[in-house]
Amino acid sequence: MTLIPQEIFDRLPSAIIVVDDRRRVMHANRSAIDLIGNNALNRDLALSLRHPVILDSLDAVLAGSTEQNGEITIPAPVSQSFVFHAERILDTPLSDGSFATLVLDNITSAHKTEEMRASFVANVSHELRSPLTAIIGFIETLQGPASDDANARQRFLNIMFRESQRMARLIDGLLSLSRVEINEHIAPKDAVDVPHIIQNVMETLQPQATKRGITLSLDAEDNTPVAIADADQLHQVFLNLIENAIKYGGEDNAVKVSTKPVDRVPGSARPGLSVTIQDQGPGIPKSLIPRLTERFYRIDEARSSTAETGMSSTGLGLAIVKHIINRHRGHMTAQSEIGVGSTFTVFLPAHPDPASASR
Ligand SMILES: Nc1ncnc2c1ncn2[C@@H]1O[C@H](COP(=O)(O)OP(=O)(O)OP(=O)(O)O)[C@@H](O)[C@H]1O
Ligand SMILES: [Mg+2]
Repeated sequence: MTLIPQEIFDRLPSAIIVVDDRRRVMHANRSAIDLIGNNALNRDLALSLRHPVILDSLDAVLAGSTEQNGEITIPAPVSQSFVFHAERILDTPLSDGSFATLVLDNITSAHKTEEMRASFVANVSHELRSPLTAIIGFIETLQGPASDDANARQRFLNIMFRESQRMARLIDGLLSLSRVEINEHIAPKDAVDVPHIIQNVMETLQPQATKRGITLSLDAEDNTPVAIADADQLHQVFLNLIENAIKYGGEDNAVKVSTKPVDRVPGSARPGLSVTIQDQGPGIPKSLIPRLTERFYRIDEARSSTAETGMSSTGLGLAIVKHIINRHRGHMTAQSEIGVGSTFTVFLPAHPDPASASR
């Protein structure tokens, strides 16, 4: 009998684990190691994959039942869903039935797509309805009472143009959010120089800052580590956070951004870096801070309006930021004091090999 080389198992997208009659992990291919970690070998699987359905199924096949199938969700670090198949190894020259295999296939993308389809339809209908209602109303007015009024026509066309642009921005934001959500379970791998990204963002936002009389500054500590990240997505994160600080930070104030190393990213044991974005705006009531990352949430429609800030607002920015940071296995906190200002802090894990930073 010829044995199949380990490399072939390592190339398979399915996670394959072999346990002995005491449920100790005897073999695990690369996909399985990604899931249960390197320390799992030779120890009870319960120590690395603490899921009762999986453990019960393995116990059942080891006790004599031939196979078990099912679906599970592992909640941390990001929720992932799997279909699994557990089976006792019988009648092979290698086994007398005291081993079992467990095969897990990741179905998170398929699951998420289904959930998102449902919530997308509900949210988007509601948010697109208001600009559309306004557009339809003005079309009716132009067709009827205002049909001969050149002044009204110009004014109404301007409003209709503005409302259509708002609909286009909403659609762009929703698509951006769904793209991020679909890939959230795939951790980024690149080495990224975060202060460099922030400098680019500041250059992009300088005209808006100047218009509102706001001074932007960046203080990057020399030993700020390189992040393990997706550069385009980090650009999106800091673009929204710094844009928010400009929009909601009051006129003629300062927006200060600083970066520094941290011993560990909150919620994990990994070292990393923090980025703090501080404004001197009117601040955010404490009770509302947890709601900021909800889709379409705006504290005060009037304060967020284009007329007030000269900038657009869909209420999707921080929802996108939250999902990107989740994908990065990072963390975000917001602190605010009424009348003093708001501070958003983003934590990101450091890259283990900083020499490969992309600039
Ligand atoms: N620095 C801040 N100071 C005060 N309020 C803020 C600040 N940042 C965000 N907010 C509040 O949180 C809300 C949600 O912010 P978010 O970035 O998600 O959406 P937005 O800025 O309104 O729209 P978009 O980001 O899509 O342009 C804002 O409408 C605003 O009310
Ligand atoms: Mg925003």
